[in-house]
Amino acid sequence: MSKKEKNNKCRLLIIGDSKVGKTSFSSMYSKGTFNINYLSTIGVELFSKDDIIDNETIHVELWDTAGSEKFNSLTAGFFGKAEGIMVMFDVTCQASFDNIRNWTESIKTHLSGDLNKNIVIIIGNKIDCVEREIKTNEAKNYCNELGFEYFETSAKTGQNVNSTIKYLVKQVIKNKNINSYNNNKIPFKQRKNEGCCCIVF
Ligand code: GTP
Repeated sequence: MSKKEKNNKCRLLIIGDSKVGKTSFSSMYSKGTFNINYLSTIGVELFSKDDIIDNETIHVELWDTAGSEKFNSLTAGFFGKAEGIMVMFDVTCQASFDNIRNWTESIKTHLSGDLNKNIVIIIGNKIDCVEREIKTNEAKNYCNELGFEYFETSAKTGQNVNSTIKYLVKQVIKNKNINSYNNNKIPFKQRKNEGCCCIVF
């Protein structure tokens, strides 16, 4: 794969408790459809779309994971491959909000502490519902404490779905550019230290 092709592809992972709306969000983004019936995700499902972001066509892959604990070991294998991660809770379900910390801790565990907080965002979904348990400010303050950006969406109406993904894709691209800039500097540093035993990581 050429460097340009690699930069024009973005792999995102979506995690969170069961029934918070991960599949619905992925489906609304990639196909513009919403299904009121609940069908539990088995393992991991891929949704994708070619999106125009900052005048570039980006192939966005959304890896939708099962919220059910019985699939934890299967979904764990996908953390390392993700370039951006969305942690979702349901604004009408206190338990799913309380579990955010567990999900962010599991990201840290799987990325061996190598966590760039810019490429992880928290999403409160189902904002079309009137029976909210988590207010916007409460969620915003909590995410702020944890060090992550907070977004609110409705996978049913499509509100904020595209803009949230676009935000994360831009963060991922920025992150890739910084990494590739830093990697390009390495040969120069190594050349500078030629003749001695200095290794630059
Ligand atoms: P798992 O596969 O178990 O991990 O669930 P999930 O997080 O993928 O949830 P899913 O998308 O299957 O949605 C669960 C239920 O919530 C379904 O009945 C959806 O129709 C409904 N739902 C999802 N998003 C929204 C939303 O934004 N608003 C409303 N009102 N309902 C939603």
